[in-house]
Amino acid sequence: MLIKRKLGWEIPESQVTPQAVFLNRRSLIAGLAGAALAGAGMPALADVDPSQGLYPAKLNPAYKDAGRAITDEQYNVNYNNFYEFGTSKGIAAEAEKLRIRPWEIAVDGEVDKPFTIGIDDLLKKVVLEERIYRHRCVEAWSMVVPWSGFPLKSLVELAKPKTDAKYVRFETFNDPEMASGQQPGLFGTMPWPYIEGLTMAEAMHDLAFVVTGAYGKPVAKSMGAPIRIHLPWKYGFKSIKSIVKVSFVKERPIGMWEQLQASEYGFWANVNPAVPHPRWSQASEQVLGTGERIPTQIYNGYGEFVASLYTGLESEKLYM
Ligand code: MTE
Repeated sequence: MLIKRKLGWEIPESQVTPQAVFLNRRSLIAGLAGAALAGAGMPALADVDPSQGLYPAKLNPAYKDAGRAITDEQYNVNYNNFYEFGTSKGIAAEAEKLRIRPWEIAVDGEVDKPFTIGIDDLLKKVVLEERIYRHRCVEAWSMVVPWSGFPLKSLVELAKPKTDAKYVRFETFNDPEMASGQQPGLFGTMPWPYIEGLTMAEAMHDLAFVVTGAYGKPVAKSMGAPIRIHLPWKYGFKSIKSIVKVSFVKERPIGMWEQLQASEYGFWANVNPAVPHPRWSQASEQVLGTGERIPTQIYNGYGEFVASLYTGLESEKLYM
């Protein structure tokens, strides 16, 4: 059955970035930032995150230029999709409720030996670097972000998957007490937890990145602290936030959006301007913070690196 809900990206293209919102965004962002700081006596991130001394990480010269200016940090911190904390873009203050320590990540499934590791222990096992990547949401807005983290490949190598592992499945926390968006709402409960998946070949690709920081410091709560992934050639919903479980599996994982609306959000979700979303065009994108609308590029401009991952898969729905 087709589930109809008014979610952020379930609106016609004309409303994806309403002009009034866009024009008012600077004042909206200023207000949200203030609210986040004043937010219910919450301690500032700097007071609670023991990893802050690891940043800024060294810039990887291979990813030093995304071909566009870096988006102002205030946009990324205050204009988010993080449905665990609400369906609007202004969840930054609510996301301050996210408790990021202790934070454990379970690694299981088809691996030599399942294990659970705390985020700070994991950070000791990897080499952090900075990469500047373009980020394209399925809703047709985009940013350029200086992420810090480590290649997803390093996490796969730590996990030592068996040869019969075909996919990696990622899972976000499910804690309705902490995350108000996970409580039953007007439209019922979404099928939490947030789940996303990749093929092993995608997970091992050089561009696939585990994010633990951004803008030279630990990644903000609203952006998916303390650990998320970023896959610059795919629509943003594949880049799952606040990960608590990584499983190596034989069957293709079904992501939360695919569970909700398989006709609109598929497994591959590679960016392609020529394949419209069923309810809006993907031909162009609004560059946050600039007022500019620019043409979208296939694979978000990363085609020369990733197109070969999809050879022989032409019959699949690669672009939704
Ligand atoms: N991960 C979780 N757990 N929950 C979410 O709602 N939203 C996705 C993705 N990862 C989402 C998530 C979507 S739709 C996008 S565009 C990006 O996160 C947004 O990341 P940003 O807020 O840092 O821009």
